[in-house]
Amino acid sequence: MLGFQTLGQFIIEKQADFPYAKGELSRLLRDIGIAAKIVNREVNKAGLMDILGHAGNINVQGESQQKLDVFADEQFISALRSGGECCIVASEENEDFIPINDEAKYVVAIDPLDGSSNIDVNVAVGTIFSIYRRVSAHGACLSDVLQKGTEQVAAGYIIYGSSTMLVYTTGKGVNGFTLDPSIGEFCLSHPDLQIPKTGTIYSVNEGNYVHFPKGVKQYIKYCQVEDVSTNRPYTSRYIGSMVADLHRNLIKGGIFVYPVTSAAPNGKLRLVYECNPMAFIIEQAGGRATNGWDRILALPVTELHQRSPIFIGSEAMVKRAEAFMAEAGTLTFNDIITA
Ligand code: AHG
Ligand code: MN
Ligand code: MN
Repeated sequence: MLGFQTLGQFIIEKQADFPYAKGELSRLLRDIGIAAKIVNREVNKAGLMDILGHAGNINVQGESQQKLDVFADEQFISALRSGGECCIVASEENEDFIPINDEAKYVVAIDPLDGSSNIDVNVAVGTIFSIYRRVSAHGACLSDVLQKGTEQVAAGYIIYGSSTMLVYTTGKGVNGFTLDPSIGEFCLSHPDLQIPKTGTIYSVNEGNYVHFPKGVKQYIKYCQVEDVSTNRPYTSRYIGSMVADLHRNLIKGGIFVYPVTSAAPNGKLRLVYECNPMAFIIEQAGGRATNGWDRILALPVTELHQRSPIFIGSEAMVKRAEAFMAEAGTLTFNDIITA
């Protein structure tokens, strides 16, 4: 008895949602699913292989690249290359976009391995991807990558956790698939995911508290105050892999915040391949994503590796945090550097 639906079957079935599509997007999603399985295999055996540790390179963000970062980057790019449905790919691991197939009509932005500092300690990591329709006629270029988040046609993530899941949206809700290792297939396990409107989990790197703006500090204090009617104090949960932190909050309800800090005056996370895809997914699941003031998906995109602060998760919680930001007033330099 086939009591489940595989990712491949689901994608083909959903193609009917896009009557003018010729199957390219479906094939692109399938290609990403295949690369995800290969990366999953390597992530799973990371502890066994001489693949642990640093590759010795510094990536464009000035962070040291883990070997698996490089491996994942290569796998996704090579799957997109052989699949033929992607014109250019923008990746966290490469300073410039990479031309793939000028005949193709889709653009992919990707964080091949998110939370990679967690690899060495067997903690969940992920992949984040975003898909746009190209805007250039010929010679795909930077303007194809620098589209607003609202223009995404699909976005998703893979979480390599206690089980491996692929979660994605094409703008018609969010569906989650769990990898069944015995058959090597992603199977539909979480149809039509909805994030609870509110929750009791807040996720923020509180070690940076002293460097946070006033509104964030006050919101954190609010989370910690006892109040029966709102189930406070809330629970603090922070894994340090955005994918894993957001996946948990998507299922259980919660807020994830990575604000500006004195060390990272524009925030740490990247708009094109971290914030925008996650914002698209969370909005599609009924949640909310802003930079503390404005909707993430509507932010102008001027650079491939642009950073943005992010407040994302259950609608009521994000709105509450925004109210603290608004009340604290315009961010000043002093807000960020004072305790
Ligand atoms: P990446 O591994 O792709 O560089 O991303 C790491 C990100 C994100 O996954 C996580 O939420 C955040 O960095 C954690 O940063 P802090 O260690 O500063 O809290
Ligand atoms: Mn990342
Ligand atoms: Mn990464």
